[in-house]
Amino acid sequence: MDIKDIISHSKEYGFIFQSSEIYDGLSAAYDYGPYGVELKNNIKQYWWKSMVQMHENIVGIDAAIFMHPKTWKASGHVDAFNDPLIDNKDSKKRYRADQLIEGYAEKIEAKIQKDVDKAKSRFGDAFDEQQFRTTNDRIIARQNEIDAVMKRLGNAMREGNMDELKTMIDEYGIVCPESGSRNWTEVRQFNLMFSTQLGNIAGEEGKLYLRPETAQGIFVNFLNVQKSTRQKIPFGIAQIGKAFRNEIVARQFIFRMREFEQMEMQFFVRPGEEMQWYEYWKEARLKWHKALGTDASKLRFHDHDNLAHYANAAVDIEFEFPFGFRELEGIHSRTDFDLSQHQELSGKKLQFFDPELNENYVPYVVETSIGCDRMFLAQLSNALQEEAVPDAEGNESTRTVLKLHPALAPVKIAVLPLLKNKEELTNAATDVFNSLKKHFNVQYDEKDAIGRRYRRQDAIGTPYCVTIDFDTLEDNSVTIRDRDTLEQVRIPIDRIADHVRVKTDINELL
Ligand code: GAP
Repeated sequence: MDIKDIISHSKEYGFIFQSSEIYDGLSAAYDYGPYGVELKNNIKQYWWKSMVQMHENIVGIDAAIFMHPKTWKASGHVDAFNDPLIDNKDSKKRYRADQLIEGYAEKIEAKIQKDVDKAKSRFGDAFDEQQFRTTNDRIIARQNEIDAVMKRLGNAMREGNMDELKTMIDEYGIVCPESGSRNWTEVRQFNLMFSTQLGNIAGEEGKLYLRPETAQGIFVNFLNVQKSTRQKIPFGIAQIGKAFRNEIVARQFIFRMREFEQMEMQFFVRPGEEMQWYEYWKEARLKWHKALGTDASKLRFHDHDNLAHYANAAVDIEFEFPFGFRELEGIHSRTDFDLSQHQELSGKKLQFFDPELNENYVPYVVETSIGCDRMFLAQLSNALQEEAVPDAEGNESTRTVLKLHPALAPVKIAVLPLLKNKEELTNAATDVFNSLKKHFNVQYDEKDAIGRRYRRQDAIGTPYCVTIDFDTLEDNSVTIRDRDTLEQVRIPIDRIADHVRVKTDINELL
């Protein structure tokens, strides 16, 4: 399914709505609907349980979104949290210069792919793609061009050289996707933090930022948490919360938003031991993703080519979204940069006395950072499928089904009386619904033919439906239907909860 299908499914079935839609929407801000909020909460619960509950040396916090303005000076966000911005004078559209240049490289890559596809259809089974890519002169030349463009881009970004980015845009003849013109402004740095003003202090002094990452709320609380919980190094602090970035180009639905939610964990370690913990968290986080049944071919590591000034190693876990492989989560070895910076600007020591080494030090940090919304999009795009299935008469039909892992599904079970106007059936169904609702998120539905009700539940990813029919009134049993296998089995009412729990219990993922 492409991203348009995912967006329209999200709206039609109450997962995600455009923010302030009745006013034509606000770009890059989204509201989660009734099923969306359930799915998002389940993702957060899975993360929190795996990271906090399953590690006796990781604890959670919930820090304020507003922080002292010096926080952002110390972290480097005031001076360096910038994107290179360029405007097209004809279309009046604004772009990220680095993304325009990456787009140029992607076009060359598309030409390579076209040549590969052509050769593949010409040579059939005998075609060796690897050999073709490494021996065909035209492909080699194009690949060299991509490498040169990306290297030049990397250098310019690292040096903050805006003139070089403009030169590249001019030299490569990059045109505005909207107007097709090359009438560009200069490239300039644009800080991504949103700011606001404190009520009681005028001017710069009262300038506050909306946090662009949750991590800093953890760093400034390092000692409070360590002392109050008597943790010893290595230990971690986890947090889930909102973050805000004034993205220049916000696109691809909830992939890049201006208000989003992060799930971050800072793991404090002895200096010199950070690489072993970096490897540990890389593997642990990949395992977390795979436990949801996501196909291994849709996940990959991507080492950062250009390390941020504070990092000595960084990798992304990329997921294959409908628009290609993109960053889903980052694992960063951040050295002692953040704690040292806060120590310097606050004048307060942020050190740990290590009784085994008998010395004080500023701990090093390995961070895992994942966007909750991006995880939501990954799960939704992975799960949404069109499938050929037999209808009630045994004829072939198609269904839209959301094959979410049952533990993440917004509704775990739907209770469906066979007929709506038979009180004995609806009463029995209501009793079943009431007995299940304290265990699971359950839905009662009596409207339309049973086949249509199944389709509605498939579309929101409900793993089980139970039907209450006339036999139920005789023998206290129901038919329970499995979303994925379509198998229907008869079970006693008092066994429904156990039956459903087997696959939907989030603890089974841990
Ligand atoms: N504390 C480190 C940090 O914030 P990051 O790579 O900038 O690192 C971490 O962000 C994660 O947050 C990303 O992997 C992504 O999942 C999510 N994220 C970042 N910007 C986002 C945006 N504009 N919209 C949605 N998610 C975003």
